[in-house]
Amino acid sequence: MEAWQAINSVRVVREFANRPLEPDHLTRILNAGRRTGSSKNAQRWVFIAVQDGEHLRQLAAVGRYAGHLAGAAAAVALVTPDPNGPRGKSIMWDLGRAAQNMVLAAWELGIGSAPATVYDHVLAGRLLGLPAEQDCSFILSFGYPADTSELTAPNRRGGRRSLDEVMREERW
Ligand SMILES: Cc1cc2nc3c(=O)[nH]c(=O)nc-3n(C[C@H](O)[C@H](O)[C@H](O)COP(=O)(O)O)c2cc1C
Repeated sequence: MEAWQAINSVRVVREFANRPLEPDHLTRILNAGRRTGSSKNAQRWVFIAVQDGEHLRQLAAVGRYAGHLAGAAAAVALVTPDPNGPRGKSIMWDLGRAAQNMVLAAWELGIGSAPATVYDHVLAGRLLGLPAEQDCSFILSFGYPADTSELTAPNRRGGRRSLDEVMREERW
């Protein structure tokens, strides 16, 4: 799959087939995160892969919109030093890049994904066994889509703002 095709077609998938990820596929996704460039090449991240069904169902309680984790084949919890501390902006910029690389690498393999925003940081920290200075603000669900037509669905009209709306030339 061409990079542009992946960027232009990827959509969030929240319902997954009831089968595990092929091990090579999960490894590819994690490597896509690992290969991401970061500010000063600091790579201030750890990716926790979760595949146990009960653990995934427990993680689904960390956010109001995290329910999709319960049905995922795997989740990758994105763990960093506290983003409210020093270098927090770089940490979150870097993490977003790593997350999108994972999402696009997965998409190329026919794997859908959805982010879950963590609301209950205490619960997430407990379920993931995080040391006190580490934070998990986002978890990604991954899985083969329950409805495989989601992989090839045409872009929804109005799904994204038009280029005219979002770009300017030279000045605001
Ligand atoms: C920072 C961020 C946090 C998100 N948090 C959630 C979430 O908690 N639960 C969820 O179902 N989707 C979450 N999403 C997914 C967005 O709802 C999704 O990207 C948006 O609706 C566009 O979806 P589409 O790519 O399918 O058009 C999040 C996305 C981002 C970028």
